[in-house]
Amino acid sequence: MQIKTANADTINEAAALLKAGGLVVLPTETVYGLGANALDGQAVARIFEAKGRPQFNPLIVHVPDIEAAAALVELNEDARRVAGKFWPGPLTLILPRREDCPVSELCSAGLPTLAVRVPAHPVARAVLQAAEVPIAAPSANRSGHISPTTPKHAAQSLGEAVDMILAAGVCDVGLESTVLDLSGPRPAVLRPGAVSAEEIAALLDCDVSYETEAKDNAPKSPGQLLRHYAPGIPVRLNAVDLHPGEALLAFGSDKFMGIKGGGAAKDLPDSARCNLSETADLHEAAANLFRMLHDLDHPDHKAIAVMPVPEQGLGRAINDRLKRAAAGAGETI
Ligand code: TXA
Ligand code: MG
Repeated sequence: MQIKTANADTINEAAALLKAGGLVVLPTETVYGLGANALDGQAVARIFEAKGRPQFNPLIVHVPDIEAAAALVELNEDARRVAGKFWPGPLTLILPRREDCPVSELCSAGLPTLAVRVPAHPVARAVLQAAEVPIAAPSANRSGHISPTTPKHAAQSLGEAVDMILAAGVCDVGLESTVLDLSGPRPAVLRPGAVSAEEIAALLDCDVSYETEAKDNAPKSPGQLLRHYAPGIPVRLNAVDLHPGEALLAFGSDKFMGIKGGGAAKDLPDSARCNLSETADLHEAAANLFRMLHDLDHPDHKAIAVMPVPEQGLGRAINDRLKRAAAGAGETI
C-alpha cells in the first residue's frame, strides 16, 4: 500500500481501483474515509474486513450531487430542503432506499434505509466524478480506533489492508458528519456533527430531536441506536439438516444436506434454497447475506435453517448478524 498525494493522475488511479473492487482511503472535509464501490457487495465486504469490525454496521454512501442521491433513496421534501442548504457538506441523511436502489444491501446492513452524503472536499468530489459509482466509506480507522484526520493516521490504523491512500493533508472539519434521520415520522439527529440540530430545525421549522443519548444507563454509540434487520420467520443456526417446511441458507456445498423424514436440500425449489457461497468464500457470503435473508423471509417457510459459517475473519461479522436475526424481530441494541 502506498500513500499518494492527490493530483489528477492519482485521482484517476484511485477511481480505477474503486471501480475494480479495490479499497481506497480518501480525504473528505470531515475525516478520511475508507472507500469502496457501493454497487459491489464483495468490495463493501472488504471494508468490514479491513476495519476488523466484528459487526456489519450500515455505511454512508457518498455521491456527487443531489440527483445522484435521488437515484438511490426516496428524497422527501424535508430531505430536498436540507440537502439544498447543507450539501455539499458534513451532513449525512438517512432515507428510505428506493425500490430500484442498486447499492449493495450490505451498505444498509439489511435495513430499508440508506445513509447518503455529498462531501464538499474537492478530492472526494473528483474521485466520485471519475469513479462514476457511489462510494461507501466509513471512517478510515480500524474498529475501536478514532477517526483519522490525516493520511498518516489512516495508514497507521489500516496498514496493508487497503490498496491505496489518497493524501490531501489535514481534514478541515476533523469531526464526522452529522447523521440526520429523515426516514421516520420526525427528523432526528443520530450523531452530532458540524451541522447542528438547531440549524436543521430552523430550516425545516419543526422540532429536531437528538437521539444520541442512551435512555437507560448503558453508554451507547450511534451504531447502537440502530434497529437491526431481523426476518419475520424464525432463524435456526448451525443447521446440519433441514426440518420439513424450512428454507435453507447454505454455506459451501449443501450436497449432503438431508431433510428430516425424507428428501434432500438440493430438491427444494429455488425460492426455498439460497447459498451464501458455494465455494465457502466469506467475501461472497457477506455480500449475499442480507439479500438472501430477505429472499427467504417468506411466510410460506416455517423457518430459515442456516448452515454453520466459520468464526474467522468476516465470518465473525456474518455470525453476529445471523445471531441477531435468530434472536428475534426488530430488536434494538
Ligand atoms: O464524516 C463522515 O460521516 C465520515 C466520512 C468518511 O464521510 N464517515 C463516517 O462513517 O463517519 P462511519 O461508518 O464511521 O459512521 C456512519 C454512521 C454510523 O454511526 C452508522 O451507524 C450511521 O452512520 N448509519 C449509517 N447508515 C445508517 C442507517 N441506514 N440508519 C441509521 N444509521 C446509519
Ligand atoms: Mg467511524
